[in-house]
Amino acid sequence: MKILRTYIKENIGILSLGALFLTLNTFATLAIPFQISNIINLGIMKKDIDMVYSTSIKMVIILIVGTATGIIANHFVALFATNFTKKNRKLLIRNLESLTVDQVNDFGVASLVTRMGNDNNNAQRLIVAFFQMILPSPIMAVISIFMTIKLSPTLALIPLFTILVFALAIVLTLFKSLPYILKVQKKLDRMTLVLRERFIGAKIIRAFDNSKKERDKFNDVAQEYTDNYIIINKKFALLSPMAFALMSIVITLIIFFGAMKVLNNTLEIGSITAIVEYSLTTIAALIMSSMVLVQMPKAVVSIERIEEVLNVTSEIKDKEELKDNSYYEDILKQNPISLTFDNVCFRYKGAEKQILKNISFSVKAGERFAIVGATGSGKSTIAKVLLRLNDIESGRILINGVDALDLPLNCLRNQISYTPQKAYIFSGKIKDNFRFTNKNMTDEEMIKIAKIAQSYDFIDSLPDKFDSFVAQGGINFSGGQKQRLSIARALSKDANIYLFDDSFSALDYATDAKLRKELKTFLKDKITIIIAQRLNTIADADKIIVLKDSEITGMGTHQELLESNQEYIELAKSQGILE
Ligand SMILES: Nc1ncnc2c1ncn2[C@@H]1O[C@H](COP(=O)(O)OP(=O)(O)OP(=O)(O)O)[C@@H](O)[C@H]1O
Ligand SMILES: [Mg+2]
Repeated sequence: MKILRTYIKENIGILSLGALFLTLNTFATLAIPFQISNIINLGIMKKDIDMVYSTSIKMVIILIVGTATGIIANHFVALFATNFTKKNRKLLIRNLESLTVDQVNDFGVASLVTRMGNDNNNAQRLIVAFFQMILPSPIMAVISIFMTIKLSPTLALIPLFTILVFALAIVLTLFKSLPYILKVQKKLDRMTLVLRERFIGAKIIRAFDNSKKERDKFNDVAQEYTDNYIIINKKFALLSPMAFALMSIVITLIIFFGAMKVLNNTLEIGSITAIVEYSLTTIAALIMSSMVLVQMPKAVVSIERIEEVLNVTSEIKDKEELKDNSYYEDILKQNPISLTFDNVCFRYKGAEKQILKNISFSVKAGERFAIVGATGSGKSTIAKVLLRLNDIESGRILINGVDALDLPLNCLRNQISYTPQKAYIFSGKIKDNFRFTNKNMTDEEMIKIAKIAQSYDFIDSLPDKFDSFVAQGGINFSGGQKQRLSIARALSKDANIYLFDDSFSALDYATDAKLRKELKTFLKDKITIIIAQRLNTIADADKIIVLKDSEITGMGTHQELLESNQEYIELAKSQGILE
């Protein structure tokens, strides 16, 4: 709840104004029964028409003040609550951006979506409900009892006792249902996860004719969620009827004992109406707050779930006391780019096995460097550690002789343009993807890059060309088209190292060859790193490393490796390059 405490401290002004107007509103609400008792006792009973007029005017004024203060109070409370969620969203986005991919995956996308949306909304809704429903109830109860004591101390015992019984019932119910309330959000996470997988994997589910099984899976989690809510509702179900029964008992008792007192001339008749009004208003307020109270632990859980994400700090950080980016960029610019891996070792967090073992190589500007190896040999991991998506365990990665760890993260990443193994294009327009890092790219430049990335022909054949719509995840494009668009996005970035992780795998041989020919010219002063499975794709590279089980088993040109490296020879045989 630290985020809420900090937020309250920062916004104590708005909150105090909200509380002030709420209190005024409560006073106004409770001033009405007192006036009703006056109108009956002093106006009607004493046949004083002036008194009836003046009290009626007072009641209208109180009503206006009550409504106005209510509106103002709601305004401040809403402002306080919506700004709280706005701030949380901002903080969540900022923190998630700084976390490593693995840290984000630890939470899971489904859970993060729920935390960002549902949890945040819960917090907002319940802060409003707390101020509007729960906070005024005890104030109302205290004032009502106080006013009733003033009118008749003995009759005050009836609402006092009732309120205590009802408050006790609320506390007991809350206590009994708490374990179930605390489970709600986790169950919602699970439901979102199953739903997400069902939608994302819809094609596979249908192709495997697995719809029924998946539907049952969803129904099961939905049922768990429902069952949990049914248990909570059952526990709270007793409260409302109990409150209404108590209300009737209170009215009957007050009228009965009040009538006795009126007959004994120890109470005026109007006071009975006022006492009934006070008791009913207070019990009604308590019913409302009991309904909201059930949701309160959920709000606490929701705020804690948001806090849980905010409390995680990135495992990959800039060194302290770094200078401006421009300082490092100037140093890097002094020589043509060079990249060295010096005895790099790495293992994924919590894993026993090292995924990179003593990886050493050097590449310089103008060179085309390739990494080949069987699936799972650690190729993509080299890309990840170079980008510092994961930090290495030992060894060094040097860019122009500067340790990557000594560079600001964004300066390091500015040096590299990366095409990930799984082509992902962003929703919006095709040109938004081209302008992803280069906002000022001209149409001519865009056409040039599209031609190099072998994507111009299919873009040009679309009715809206570069303005064509890209659906979420690029599902309205084929695998090969997505790959080419993702290459084009990488080429649109002005960098020094271009890193393609298995980015040509969905291209046919002819397109692959054309693309590589274009790249050779376009990236002639840069470092080009191509990770591939297909040897044809990397046969013309200046230097190739062969990875096997996390280690480099050979380094050289295509020809050299064909003559000397057993793994390379086997890969060549399996691809029909060697007999
Ligand atoms: N986030 C991760 N956490 C734990 N282990 C991982 C993670 N990512 C990859 N690995 C493991 O690291 C090993 C190397 O993975 P990597 O993705 O580098 O292989 P690759 O050579 O790129 O394979 P492919 O050709 O199939 O893309 C694999 O055995 C994999 O199980
Ligand atoms: Mg890979």
